[in-house]
Amino acid sequence: MKVIVCENYDEMSKEGAKIIASLLKNKPCCVLGLATGSTPVGMYKELAGMNRAGEITFKDVTSFNLDEYYPLEPTHEQSYRYFMNVNLFDHVDINKEHTHVPDGLAKDPTAMGEAYDAAIEAAGGIDLQVLGLGPNGHIAFNEPEEELYAGTHLTSLTESTIKANSRFFASVSDVPTKAVTMGIGSIMKAKKIIVLASGKGKHAVVEKMLSGRITTMCPGTLLLAHADVTLIVDRDAYEG
Ligand code: GLP
Repeated sequence: MKVIVCENYDEMSKEGAKIIASLLKNKPCCVLGLATGSTPVGMYKELAGMNRAGEITFKDVTSFNLDEYYPLEPTHEQSYRYFMNVNLFDHVDINKEHTHVPDGLAKDPTAMGEAYDAAIEAAGGIDLQVLGLGPNGHIAFNEPEEELYAGTHLTSLTESTIKANSRFFASVSDVPTKAVTMGIGSIMKAKKIIVLASGKGKHAVVEKMLSGRITTMCPGTLLLAHADVTLIVDRDAYEG
């Protein structure tokens, strides 16, 4: 795993954007795996700026997001579809019909999950997957557990994740207790992965990832088994 240590959040965001921009220049019709959460917001802003300046284009890009709350309608202000529109898609020249987010209203989440993974494969697989880290080490919504799913699936959120994510909702009781999420296999099939982590709250997870040991109880460590992962951290996440 390659590690890039940045001084602060802005630098981390610029580093991440640089990697995505260089892929967009080399392969304009690439497939991006995208993440939500506060961590990638700055990077998305950078990318929107580069797009406005004419340095990069998203017009031939296809994207697949990692996860979505369940059940939650895509128009809900806390849905991840809404997040992606507001933080990236509305500010770049991407064709929204080529952007995908798991269906948070799927009647049959198992069938939806299988179709989602099949759609990723049909698009040629993910060229570059962006990931954040949950404070408990989760990636997407793959929570620490003894057994993890390979494919996109319906999952229950842990108490700690519900609490951590309640900052975006009016109250803890408004946070959905379930989500549909890409599985570890869906993520690990990406050709290249960048992981962003900022702030002291992520230090414990970053430290585990740097320990060289792998455990499903900290899903972020599973990335150590991937051939092309770049961890981009700010100093607070790196040093604690
Ligand atoms: C959510 C998302 C993850 C994200 C994590 C960290 O739970 N499902 O994909 O990485 O939060 O969020 P933040 O970047 O806000 O710390």
